[in-house]
This record gives sequence, structure tokens and C-alpha cells, in this order.
Amino acid sequence: MPSDPAWSSIPPHARQVFLCTGPRCVARGSLALWKTLRRELLKHDRIETPEGVLLTRTGCQFPCNLGPVLTVYPDACWYRVRDDQEVKQLVDGHLVAGAVVAHLLIGARAGGSPDA
Ligand code: FES
Repeated sequence: MPSDPAWSSIPPHARQVFLCTGPRCVARGSLALWKTLRRELLKHDRIETPEGVLLTRTGCQFPCNLGPVLTVYPDACWYRVRDDQEVKQLVDGHLVAGAVVAHLLIGARAGGSPDA
């Protein structure tokens, strides 16, 4: 079995973002949004940096009717991002400025709180 030493370390990050790539979110465009999300984070040098984001694609996160679903931890914020413009708003607002983007929020778990 191949083994790379890099596969033994946790990448630096302040937040982990989980974008749903389950079947219903894919049908709503989440795979294209993944590319936009990566591009926007790279613009801000926020991928796998100490103040940045560890990006993870997931299967169904369950509130399919509200998708495409994107969650941000440890802030426990659940978002719906429908197009490139909303992805940019999410990146600029929550993932760079550290502020909840209220108009995209579909829910939040008690105990989560962004830095700002
Ligand atoms: S497929 Fe994304 S929440 Fe179910």
C-alpha cells in the first residue's frame, strides 16, 4: 500500500469547511461551486494556512431541500450557497472576515461561534 509522509499530518487550518457533494446537492450545482470555493480561497491565501480553511467534500448532510449545503466548523454554521456570487459572499464574510453571513445561513448549532 502506498504511503506518503504528508498523509500522516493534519494540515494547518483555523476552520474546516464541509461542502455537500451528495446527490441532491450535486444536482443543485455543488461540484461547480467547489471549484469557485477553492478559487476564492486561494485568492485570499486561505487554503491550509494557520488562519485558513481545510476544505472537505462530504456525502449527504441531510437538509437536502435547503442545498447546496455548506457547513463551517468549529463555528457550527450551516449555509446554503446557490451560485458563485453567494460563494464569494461566504468566503469574504465568514472565511476571511470571520463574520456570519446571515442571509445565507440555514442554521447554527448552539455553542458554535465565529471569531468576530
Ligand atoms: S445531498 Fe446535500 S444535504 Fe443531502
